[in-house]
Amino acid sequence: MSQKVSLQQLIDDLNRLGKEAENDITASSDKESLERLKIQFLGKKGRLSEILGSMGSLSASERPTIGQNANRLKSQIQELISVKINKLKQEALKDLIASESVDVTAPAKGKPFGHRHPLITTTEEIVDLFCGLGYEVREGPEIENDYYNFAALNIPEGHPARDMQDTFYLENNLLLRTHTSPVQIRCLEKNPPPIRIVAPGRVYRRDAVDATHSPVFHQVEVLAIDEGLDFSHLRGTVMAFLKAFFGDIPIRFRASYFPFTEPSVEVDVQWRGKWLEVMGCGMVDPSVLEGLEIDPDRWTGFAAGLGVERFCMVRHEIDDIRRLYTSDLRFLEQF
Ligand code: DAH
Repeated sequence: MSQKVSLQQLIDDLNRLGKEAENDITASSDKESLERLKIQFLGKKGRLSEILGSMGSLSASERPTIGQNANRLKSQIQELISVKINKLKQEALKDLIASESVDVTAPAKGKPFGHRHPLITTTEEIVDLFCGLGYEVREGPEIENDYYNFAALNIPEGHPARDMQDTFYLENNLLLRTHTSPVQIRCLEKNPPPIRIVAPGRVYRRDAVDATHSPVFHQVEVLAIDEGLDFSHLRGTVMAFLKAFFGDIPIRFRASYFPFTEPSVEVDVQWRGKWLEVMGCGMVDPSVLEGLEIDPDRWTGFAAGLGVERFCMVRHEIDDIRRLYTSDLRFLEQF
């Protein structure tokens, strides 16, 4: 015999069920457990159905009260569950946004771009200016022998001019070239005049290392040999070059001495109120041409040599030559 239940008992049961459902829903923290609660409370064999199943003992007039209460409870529980599911979704989204957030105010990382060293750009600028005057670029080896570096340039063994260039000697009569002038000899050997060449390159001297000297530095050599070239061509070329590089500044030619040129001059430019020596040059000495079996009565010409570091330091107002070799990016990135 089924136990008789009163209307009030059922109403109490429904209220208790409502409270219990509300507590469980509030406490659950994921969608799966909410689905389980839904089945547990509202499913066909769930707790609500169980209560409704015991309505049989109520009178026909009492049943609608329980029916209405049960329906209201059912939709309340459904509502609580869907509100809770939405809340969980919102929280998950918030977590995701926080974990994937981008700080648009953070400083950009950026890719560092390399660029050419100021000595390279200065060399290129000098070489370009001579190319514009019709000169061709030539290069020679940095390990030279005595003949090309000295003897062929009219600096025989024992000549005091060798002291002007403190040399790194290697084995087997080899040395590190002390200037780019040997490129003159190598080119004339292979290509008889007329010739116009510009030869950039690295050179080596044992000089003490201070703010103005480095054991490795860079020169550009210039050579022009043709019929009828005289000192006015040398002067015109050097003036045109220096004015193109430095702008319209005072230039002066000073008599000097180099074994491979006669006459020889050194050239100064006036820079910030001071005379600054920037290059050596002169008419190629006939004995250099004779040594190469070139007839000095027919062919004449001029040569010039300059230090790239000096040009670079003046152009960029660099006070210490060593800055050009230490690869300090804080320095290099300024150019
Ligand atoms: N070779 C010389 C040096 O390094 C520079 C030089 C002077 C080169 C006069 C020349 C020249 O071609 O004509 O000191």
